[in-house]
Amino acid sequence: MSLLVISLPLLPVVVMITVRFWSPLLALCHRMGAGIVKLSHRKVCASSTHAYVFSNCNHGQAQSVLLTFELYSTRHASLNIGPKKGEFLDEIVKQKAPLRVLELGMHCGYASVRILSLLPPSGKLLTVEIDPLTADRGEEIILVAGFKNTQFQVLKCSSAEAISALSSCLEDSCLDLVLMDHDPEKYLPDLLALKREKLLSASCIVLINSAVTAGAKHLLEYVRARPLSYSMGKQLEGMIEIQCHMNKYTEASEY
Ligand SMILES: C[S@@+](CC[C@H](N)C(=O)[O-])C[C@H]1O[C@@H](n2cnc3c(N)ncnc32)[C@H](O)[C@@H]1O
Repeated sequence: MSLLVISLPLLPVVVMITVRFWSPLLALCHRMGAGIVKLSHRKVCASSTHAYVFSNCNHGQAQSVLLTFELYSTRHASLNIGPKKGEFLDEIVKQKAPLRVLELGMHCGYASVRILSLLPPSGKLLTVEIDPLTADRGEEIILVAGFKNTQFQVLKCSSAEAISALSSCLEDSCLDLVLMDHDPEKYLPDLLALKREKLLSASCIVLINSAVTAGAKHLLEYVRARPLSYSMGKQLEGMIEIQCHMNKYTEASEY
């Protein structure tokens, strides 16, 4: 009772503060909620995807691994590119027959398994995952699909760190295909870093996912403003193929 008597005079102040700061308070709650969902989604998704695929697929059969991922995604939220964009990726890998592929954002290895299934015998996939636990899970799934460590390398670090260390992994060769499916805010800085380090082959293809996000739009603006160096290829549901035309003339006009 006495608490009520003391707090009653404070009521108008509380109401005033709430009204005054309502929208920033709401925005703060919304951001905190989204952050928690994102964090738990990433962790739950990676561990449960891995557990489901690991225990339900036929080990040693890449097609079974892919189908098991797809079955999981029909019932649970999932971060992989899925079968439709997967087929789009397959087409590009078949046409290009790339010897060196870089995937930025491996997650549990769905796209990695698709790429590895179609690489030429001397091809190699370098795949990057910033979250070390997810990277371990993805690596295990790739091995479960039947691929050998000679065919792929998982770089357990950020895309920026991976790109700066890439030349030693590539041993004088260049990338023929880059799949960007990590943090769209990093798409443009990572493309510039790949160019700066001269890691892209003369006709490299850069395939970006989530092309409707603000970060991806920065990359697309950059690319569209340089028609001598890049041209836009096919696209499907937010996945866009960018064809690079790297030579000393276009490179000189880049900066
Ligand atoms: C959409 S998922 C990738 C899905 C995967 N390409 C597939 O289709 O199977 C994005 C992944 O990128 C990782 N990631 C986010 N930012 C990154 C960065 N800067 N460098 C490397 N990986 C990053 C996340 O941890 C997440 O696992």
